[in-house]
Amino acid sequence: MSSNLNNRRWVLVNYPESMPEERDFRLDSSLKVPELKEGEILVQASYLSVDPYMRGRISPTKGYTPGVELEGLMPAGGVGEIIESRADQFESGDKVALENFGWQEYAVVEADMAHKVDTDLAPIQSYLSYMGMPGLTAYFGLFDVASAKPGDCVAVSAASGAVGQVVGQLAKAHGCRVVAIASSGKKIDWCKEIGYDAGINYRKVENLSDEIKAVCPDGVDVYFDNTGGPINDAIMENLNLNARIAVCGVISLADKVGKPDIGPRYLRQILIARARIQGFLVFDYIDRYPEAREHLGKLISDGEFKFKEDVSDGIESMASSFIQLLNSENFGKKLIKI
Ligand SMILES: NC(=O)c1ccc[n+]([C@@H]2O[C@H](COP(=O)([O-])OP(=O)(O)OC[C@H]3O[C@@H](n4cnc5c(N)ncnc54)[C@H](OP(=O)(O)O)[C@@H]3O)[C@@H](O)[C@H]2O)c1
Repeated sequence: MSSNLNNRRWVLVNYPESMPEERDFRLDSSLKVPELKEGEILVQASYLSVDPYMRGRISPTKGYTPGVELEGLMPAGGVGEIIESRADQFESGDKVALENFGWQEYAVVEADMAHKVDTDLAPIQSYLSYMGMPGLTAYFGLFDVASAKPGDCVAVSAASGAVGQVVGQLAKAHGCRVVAIASSGKKIDWCKEIGYDAGINYRKVENLSDEIKAVCPDGVDVYFDNTGGPINDAIMENLNLNARIAVCGVISLADKVGKPDIGPRYLRQILIARARIQGFLVFDYIDRYPEAREHLGKLISDGEFKFKEDVSDGIESMASSFIQLLNSENFGKKLIKI
């Protein structure tokens, strides 16, 4: 049955040297879905996820995981429905999430690559956002890496995004004072609606460091860094004693992957504040995902949780949506409805 299906899929055709462009990718429809082998499942995508990490994967420089080869399928998380199963643990109709679905309409994978999702608990696409990888990232970054405590002043960049929305609400529920940093007034308004105490539009202020000082007069205790770049520089000038900086992502460097990150050097500020700066990757915490899911589940079932998605339609919109994300043009978790 599966071999009759056409599978539209995006492949990489060029390694971008600076910001990716649509012509770096090609929508290919030459392949049919392969016949299933024993132990495999065929999943039809309902939603695919668009994430900043994809930028790192399309660079020939060394990353934390092997990059995409030219003519290779672009990576993406996805959720969907099993339409054929040759594995005991799944049957047709099951709803599943795959960490690596790929930028394609159908995925054939070994069954242990998929996990069932509970769509009575939360909508299927939430397993790509607050119930999935971005939610887990927020939890471990905030509590484990940054050791957030009640009373801390927590600043978050890309605060209206997939990770940032969850960080803000987790930190607020934990008794922190939470400050959103984002690129527009509309995004800041949304952050306040979901519980952020204050917000800074980093594109509108004359001096970001002064603005952070005004909003966080006692300094920043925790900086959840989703961006790197000039926002990180401005925070460094405002660290409180024993500040913790969780380096979650460096999306502001999307146009210079593998090149030096030129800017001020702030080791003296780290020294004076006795601050700690630590990078992390969510999958380092894989053994503790159940703990995070329980915590997030409680936050969500308490009823106050709010979350914005930014959904585009159709596999055709994958490349343009990815480029929009890298240019701050998404508002909420970027998803593609297939
Ligand atoms: N360490 C991990 O395991 C892990 C896991 C998941 C995600 N991450 C990282 O977490 C960060 C957020 O990811 P997400 O999925 O939640 O994405 P997102 O925040 O939903 O979307 C990306 C956001 O990045 C901001 N941005 C883009 N270019 C920027 C620039 N030049 N300067 C400042 N901000 C810029 C934009 O927000 P504004 O409109 O506010 O500029 C944009 O909306 C990313 O850096 C990602 O790589 C890390």
